[in-house]
Amino acid sequence: MMRLCFVTFMFLVHQITAEDGCASVCTCSDNVANCSYVEIGSIPHRDVFNNNLKMLDLTGNFIEHLTDNALVDYEGLQNLSFRNNYIRDVNRLAFAGLYSSLVHLDLTGNKIQTIFDDTFKRIPELKTLLLSNNSVATLERNSFGDPEHLQYLDLSLNYLSIILDGTFDRNQELQFLSLRHNEIQSVGEPTFKMLHNLRHLDLSHNKISSVQPEAFRSLSQLEWFSLSHNRIKEFYDNAFESLDYSSCL
Ligand SMILES: *[C@@H]1O[C@H](CO)[C@@H](O)[C@H](O)[C@H]1NC(C)=O
Ligand SMILES: *[C@@H]1O[C@H](CO)[C@@H](O)[C@H](O)[C@H]1NC(C)=O
Ligand SMILES: *[C@@H]1O[C@H](CO)[C@@H](O)[C@H](O)[C@H]1NC(C)=O
Repeated sequence: MMRLCFVTFMFLVHQITAEDGCASVCTCSDNVANCSYVEIGSIPHRDVFNNNLKMLDLTGNFIEHLTDNALVDYEGLQNLSFRNNYIRDVNRLAFAGLYSSLVHLDLTGNKIQTIFDDTFKRIPELKTLLLSNNSVATLERNSFGDPEHLQYLDLSLNYLSIILDGTFDRNQELQFLSLRHNEIQSVGEPTFKMLHNLRHLDLSHNKISSVQPEAFRSLSQLEWFSLSHNRIKEFYDNAFESLDYSSCL
């Protein structure tokens, strides 16, 4: 067993050595390093790529943890994908170092359970955050407080039952929000109150049985909206005040 582990370890280390400014298992072109489905269990060392790297695609690997400062040497990176890995834990300062460069972060298809107040701290320019198909059951109130320029947030296919008041208060630039396929039970009046620019809101496939009056009142820019597959029996008369969408529920 020991021997097998050792051999596996050597194999992984060997796989991510450099060759011409690109890790040997990855494919690099322009500023993009494509390391998707190459069976690595950790983030390659920054040294194996050339200096102007803007996009790192780590889709479909075996990464389980994002430790503190895991990406600290990747300053300048704009796009980062960990889609379809096995990430369970994202340490609180995992993205420190990508400050002001990171714009798109894809964590779709992992095993993340909790988003802490500081999970996404220190990446203030983030615009796209994809967290679909994880196991997120807990969102701390200030989870999205730091990336306040978020425009696109996908939380579909998780286990959220409660969205605390104030969770999206700082995301006034948000245009797309999907909470499809969670276990949300009620929608409070303050939940979406600050989302004046929201165009797309998907609340379908939840367990919503009550929607407070005026819950959607601020959403004057909404173009697409769904509450289908919930448990709503009756609406307060003014839940949809200022919306013209009562007809497409
Ligand atoms: C990486 O390669 C895969 C497989 O060829 C491709 O589907 C994917 O779009 C590539 N990623 C990037 C960022 O180019
Ligand atoms: C970065 O990600 C965004 C959103 O996923 C995508 O539209 C854009 O093409 C990506 N950029 C590169 C260089 O792959
Ligand atoms: C969600 O992720 C799992 C692996 O974690 C994958 O098998 C499944 O196909 C994904 N579901 C969707 C709807 O993408």
